[in-house]
Amino acid sequence: MPDCTFFTTAIDYTNAAPHIGHAYEKVLTDVLVRFERLSGRSAYFLTGVDQHGQKVQQSAEKEGLTPLAFAEACTAKFLGLWKTLGVEFDGWAATTNPLHKQAVQKILQRLFDEGQLYKQGHRGFYSVRQEQFLTDKERNEAGAFGPEWGQVVELEEENYYFRLSAHKDWLLGFIDAHEHFVVPAFRRVELRNAVERLSGDLCISRPKTRLSWGIELPFDKEFVTYVWFDALINYVSFAGYLAEAGSGLPEFGTLWPAKAHVIGKDILIPAHGVYWPIMLHALGFPDAEIPTLLVHGWWNISGAKMSKSLGNAVNPALLAERYGVSALRYYLMADIATGRDADFSEERLRMRFNDELANNVGNLLNRTLNMAQRYRQGVLRRVPTNDADLHALSEVEAPGAVAAYTQAMEHYQVDAALAAAVNLARACNQLIESSAPWKLAKDPEQADRLDAVLYHLAESIRLVAILLVPVLPEAALGILGQLQASAAPSLAAAVWGGLPDGHQLGTPVPLFPRLEAPPVEAE
Ligand code: MSP
Repeated sequence: MPDCTFFTTAIDYTNAAPHIGHAYEKVLTDVLVRFERLSGRSAYFLTGVDQHGQKVQQSAEKEGLTPLAFAEACTAKFLGLWKTLGVEFDGWAATTNPLHKQAVQKILQRLFDEGQLYKQGHRGFYSVRQEQFLTDKERNEAGAFGPEWGQVVELEEENYYFRLSAHKDWLLGFIDAHEHFVVPAFRRVELRNAVERLSGDLCISRPKTRLSWGIELPFDKEFVTYVWFDALINYVSFAGYLAEAGSGLPEFGTLWPAKAHVIGKDILIPAHGVYWPIMLHALGFPDAEIPTLLVHGWWNISGAKMSKSLGNAVNPALLAERYGVSALRYYLMADIATGRDADFSEERLRMRFNDELANNVGNLLNRTLNMAQRYRQGVLRRVPTNDADLHALSEVEAPGAVAAYTQAMEHYQVDAALAAAVNLARACNQLIESSAPWKLAKDPEQADRLDAVLYHLAESIRLVAILLVPVLPEAALGILGQLQASAAPSLAAAVWGGLPDGHQLGTPVPLFPRLEAPPVEAE
């Protein structure tokens, strides 16, 4: 077994600016990794950029840059965004890295030597504008290739092919035997149906005459490898697979197999669900070492696809600047069910933050610390109590919230996990209303009840803060700091009674100021 839980995300194309969909995937993975650590497990997070291929070459040409200079400029945008959003990864997979290139070439050579790759001529229709071979699928209703393909010529070209179809039966059997290969389950069904229809092999080369921006085939210098073949290998190359001693890459055996590759629904079929497991199988990876694919849904705009070309792509850096990183991370995790699609709405971002963080968690913290300071100089007393409402909180609601949160996080359901934390805070706000500490404070006979109420509130907030750590690392530490309970937070410490008798609380500082809609001209 590996020593360290290993999560990876799809590597982003460097031919476009990052949008909210890219940000979602990285924040989701960052949250899963932080949850592992909160649970006391070590974790390694690999992400990066997919820098080769036709689109990068074309975009670079348009801007009068070399492909490398263009790819590096785009890479800087992604790196800057991850820093802003608090996405903390351990390994950076940039496919122009020479260590990656070496691994790709070793893999190609091995597959070639073992007869998994072969060369064959192909005669077909080729779109000069799109620089790709067309199949009957690309014909329009009239049976012709439409104007979107530009000039179409009949061409004969030799290429290298990977024996994908030889492994089709293995893949079907593997999918059937591994219930958790693809999460959520409905995507596994989709994948199985697609594999049933699989025919033919995969062309894994491009002649340098039409694409030079790629990794050269080690056994034929006239070709570079197909960008997907190159990109998929990042998951093993940057984990140290086939690396030479002293490379600086991790020890492969400590990481592999990855607990999950986190990808969007658009790249399950065929790349991650067909090519990738077959590549690993052909390389000799045993079935037990083929990672789970965690397939998330898409953020849309009014039900429609978000894209730079449609002009509706939402810029995450702008949102972080406008509302703060906590609000953006919270919204991206709370307003989508992992695996499903969601519609992006700035109004919902503000509404959920105000309702769940500002008016609920933030308000609870403020009121509790204020009352504790006013009535008890911030000192908590842990008095025994038999009061039913307090008993319910400490024995049922709080442990129930921690259990529900843990169960949801273990199933990657971050939205449900957040709901468990936020609901515990709501229960505490209700306790403030029903117990009315301001009345208790006036009655000396109720001194113990007041102490017990304040203790229960502070202790519940401590638990809520621990549960918020993965999604809101800074704000959660801020809450724990105000409670003066900032020892390194852990899920193991999310059990009732962590604050000792006589504990001194801090003073409140607002952490979640309400968000307002920006002035109209800024929209
Ligand atoms: N470069 C390939 C992945 C290679 S992995 C070996 C690629 N890049 S991408 O930039 O187009 O997409 C990166 C990730 O962002 C993918 O997982 C994709 O599904 C995800 N998303 C792109 N648009 C998205 C939304 N609108 N919403 C959520 N995720 C989205 O594919």
